[in-house]
Amino acid sequence: MIKISPSILSCDFANMQSELERIEKAGADYAHIDVMDGMFVPNITLGPCIVKAIRRTSGLVFDVHLMICEPERYIEEFAKAGADIITVHYESTDDPAAVLRRIRELGCRAGLSIKPATDPEVVRPLLGLCDLILVMTVEPGFGGQSFMHDMIPHIAAVAEMTREAGLDTEIEVDGGISPANVRLVLDAGANVIVAGSAVFKSEDMAATVKALRG
Ligand code: DX5
Ligand code: ZN
Repeated sequence: MIKISPSILSCDFANMQSELERIEKAGADYAHIDVMDGMFVPNITLGPCIVKAIRRTSGLVFDVHLMICEPERYIEEFAKAGADIITVHYESTDDPAAVLRRIRELGCRAGLSIKPATDPEVVRPLLGLCDLILVMTVEPGFGGQSFMHDMIPHIAAVAEMTREAGLDTEIEVDGGISPANVRLVLDAGANVIVAGSAVFKSEDMAATVKALRG
């Protein structure tokens, strides 16, 4: 089953409750929440207190994408704030295995993300600890960038690894995805589609969410 996870990075931050209602009504499965610290990526967004506040307003699955250095310092706070899935970057920590284990211990689903320059093979030894692998299809940091076509082999490689291992790990893709190019990532094996600008800038959000299912 294909899941759609609109990135609220492109929403109206002054009206987060109604924006979450809007994506839920449009048929979204998850709400993708981009956390940036100004260190791991050049941009700064939001922290656990905002996640906690919006948790009270929405029943959507919170898909929290941590683009922060040393995420082990904050995963407990995000778990307590109401995250359902916590995804950390392979490049952001010295011990991704320990972080992934801790996320599960805290009762959340554990995700591991790789930046475009990272060899997807790094994921292989960690597969058993992951509920989700997030393959970035732009350089993380900002919404509205162009999809990097050369990430298609990365998606295919990760999908193949999980198949070989007999796991049903979700394969998520994030960055520059729209109804115009979603077929490429679905065919490569992705099954969780993040889209920020394509969803929030669309005239008919429900139609866009539907189109993103391919
Ligand atoms: C970028 C973020 C993305 C971003 C996607 O670093 O991780 O989730 O919001 O936005 P679009 O879909 O506009 O590329
Ligand atoms: Zn993201």
